[in-house]
Amino acid sequence: AKFRVAGECGRDPHQAFDRFPPDANNEYIVKVGVSTHRFHSELPLEQVWTYDGTIPGPTFVERSFRPTMVRFINNLPEDHKGFGSPEISTHLHGAHVGSESDGYAGNYYSREDKGPTISDKGAFYDNHYPNYPSKGDPRNVCGTMWYHDHREEFTAPNVYRGLTGMYLVFDEIDSGNESDPNPKALRLPSGVGKYDIPLVVQDKRFDVGGNLMFNQLDPEGFLGNLMMVNGTVSPYLNVEGRKYRFRLLDASMARYFQFHLHNEAGKDQEFTYIASDGNLLERPVKMTRLFMGMAERSDIIIDFGKYPPGTKIYLVNRLEQTDPRKPSGNLLTKPVRLMRFDIGEKTTDSPPIPAFLRALPPMPTNVVRTRRWELGRKNGQWTINDKFFDPERVDAVVKHNEAEIWKFDIGGGWAHPIHIHLDDFRILSYNGRKPPPEWAGRKDVIPLLPGVEMSVLVMFTDYVGKYMMHCHQTAHEDSAMMIRYDVVKA
Ligand code: C2O
Ligand code: CU
Repeated sequence: AKFRVAGECGRDPHQAFDRFPPDANNEYIVKVGVSTHRFHSELPLEQVWTYDGTIPGPTFVERSFRPTMVRFINNLPEDHKGFGSPEISTHLHGAHVGSESDGYAGNYYSREDKGPTISDKGAFYDNHYPNYPSKGDPRNVCGTMWYHDHREEFTAPNVYRGLTGMYLVFDEIDSGNESDPNPKALRLPSGVGKYDIPLVVQDKRFDVGGNLMFNQLDPEGFLGNLMMVNGTVSPYLNVEGRKYRFRLLDASMARYFQFHLHNEAGKDQEFTYIASDGNLLERPVKMTRLFMGMAERSDIIIDFGKYPPGTKIYLVNRLEQTDPRKPSGNLLTKPVRLMRFDIGEKTTDSPPIPAFLRALPPMPTNVVRTRRWELGRKNGQWTINDKFFDPERVDAVVKHNEAEIWKFDIGGGWAHPIHIHLDDFRILSYNGRKPPPEWAGRKDVIPLLPGVEMSVLVMFTDYVGKYMMHCHQTAHEDSAMMIRYDVVKA
């Protein structure tokens, strides 16, 4: 379907429109509406909210330097009561985009919003994703992004109801072609849905009858009692004996994970970490366990070619968590199996994983100021610098191309995954130390554990307007743990 309208819903005109005009062949329509979904063959059919009818929503497969326009049509019932809001604002997490296409929490719209935005089937808004790298790192567009609802005060329930999807971007180096003749190409396991597979991991709460629960949401949020991958509890995947790339995303409200790969006997298996929050590291890292917080993405490669056909390998969670505010710090004595890989015959493999992936941009040195962000709590809600989020209040003004150090402090014994919009950051210190290799590259979200102090280097480029920094425990974010910063021209 073709369309060419932008800047509706009373928002600003699209600032990237002239510089990166959308490609008429690269425009999409996504309907946000009510659908049914079964989380497991033995669980009842549930009413869920989806992008285009599926959980997760459709996976975008894009090229860098090729802009995308996505029209999000809101078909959610206007008269919805209870858990969640039928008003939406869609954010592409990890994207370097204009403020008007960033899904600002206060820029939501309902199905019945009048004006030029009304179509026959509901109000819409067009997000323009340039897929252009930031001037701060002219080489690289984030490769593994996800889109989700960002409605002020209702992000947790709207995402929990199903509003989540993946958005992948390829370029010359990470080209998505295993036999790419370009000498720069990495030739990683390729073919989205075949050897390159997003794994959206979430927990949700089900009652004794197996019905999805929509607990009354308080500012703590809640944990699920069943884990699912790509909307299915305990799925399995038939794999060939060769390398696969998986893109793990923790899309839970409050659940942290420590992922392991286990064989039938529960013994750790090695895998290779290649990208943090969609950004290739300089060098692959071999590991046997991976800690992840909400909204983080980890691209890993698993080599099933080293196992005889018939072997079963499991993706498991070993982290104990009984409180939605933080993991306990202990390991589970009985790991939870999240999904199973059934390994078949050996097949043609992708080339070996290169020893060098992609150079990281140099750290900006023009640091002009340091800001402190204190994560706290007041009157039963969550605060940043003692304030509750207000979409109209500007908490910081940051100039283009000026690097800043943002220091985060956690008061109290809670964990908060901190997310910064528009541009990636680099961790300078985490709990007084240098970050581990998987956090040493470009990041856009980082789980801050109780008592941890963290300094990151931020620098914003290209676009102006309002953006958000917030806790990505979505119930905390809804309960006001968010600030607005405005990016202005230098
Ligand atoms: Cu993943 Cu501000 O969001
Ligand atoms: Cu939090």
